Amino acid sequence: MIGGRATGPLSERKATCRAGSNIAFIKYWGVAGGAEDLNIPLNNSISMTLADAHTTTTVAWDDSGCLPEDSIAIDGEQLVGSSAERTVAHLDRLRALAGVPYKASVVSTNNFPMASGIASSASGFAALTVAGAAALGLRLDVTRLSAVARQGSGSASRSLFGGFVEWERGWGGGESEGNSLLDSRSVAHQLHSEDHWALRDVIAIVSTSAKRVSSSSGHRLAATSPLNAARTACVGAWLETVRQAIADRDIGKLGPILELDALAMHGVMMTSTPSLLYWQPGTLEVLQAVRAWREDDGVPVYFTIDAGPNVHLICEADSAAEVERRVGALPAVERVLVSGPGTGPELSDGHLI
Ligand code: DP6
Repeated sequence: MIGGRATGPLSERKATCRAGSNIAFIKYWGVAGGAEDLNIPLNNSISMTLADAHTTTTVAWDDSGCLPEDSIAIDGEQLVGSSAERTVAHLDRLRALAGVPYKASVVSTNNFPMASGIASSASGFAALTVAGAAALGLRLDVTRLSAVARQGSGSASRSLFGGFVEWERGWGGGESEGNSLLDSRSVAHQLHSEDHWALRDVIAIVSTSAKRVSSSSGHRLAATSPLNAARTACVGAWLETVRQAIADRDIGKLGPILELDALAMHGVMMTSTPSLLYWQPGTLEVLQAVRAWREDDGVPVYFTIDAGPNVHLICEADSAAEVERRVGALPAVERVLVSGPGTGPELSDGHLI
């Protein structure tokens, strides 16, 4: 059970969960054909769960039948359109698992800007899964919760665990057995706890505007890129190096591979049809600066970028203040957030409704 707690009794149909976002060192980009709805990735991915970029979500199920529709508010705004549909589809998964028809009120807050390359879908769907399941009294272990969260958002499967996490592709392409909602072949597991390595993600925000193409649509385009097969052929060896670098707490081994995979993923994005270009001029300004600080001044810092323009600078805790100072002084950078590794999701009594 999450946080070592038993889920609440069935009469208490409200629960609140806080879950950290995560930053991937080896990326999830592209879903397996034929299983798009299940979010089965093309390759394993490895990430660090973030302590200071998180989502808090309260789910209250209405067993009185008074609520006509699900109601979902994020950061004070009522969700509409495809984002609302995606969340309702996830509530449907939880309803199906519990065998109940109840509608839900969902209230959620992020402590970071949404839809800008910091994975709000990871922390959001992790928190929604854990709070929604707890409020229904579903007694699912963390591996099953990871499988359920994955179907809401792939990267959310990793946010079910704290520290350093690997999500196994785990799918031979065959039919799922039994309840596909709980099929646990493609799930995450923890490699090391949050205490293992004092690594920092110094996030350089160069734009907070919402991206034009969501990662969900982008995953379906990966296969159209001529570079996709080359990237997935290389990823096995990169995963091995990243696992070893994390085990050895070796930033000099981790850094070059995390830059390489971020660039490989963006190469795939840029060469998809249609082409996805998430970078802004500020993105490149930060990348060039990071390379110069490393090569000219010996600062051990490396970059990675998700599906957005913002740049994540990965370094050890003892260089984080210097990296934060340097990156904050760049004209293109609007804001800097810093996070170390955090725990997995935690249930709390601090309900938002
Ligand atoms: C670039 O998990 O956001 O951040 O499954 O459609 O929600 P959905 O996609 P999402 O994709 C994350 C992509 C990435 C790389 C990563 O986090 O591994």
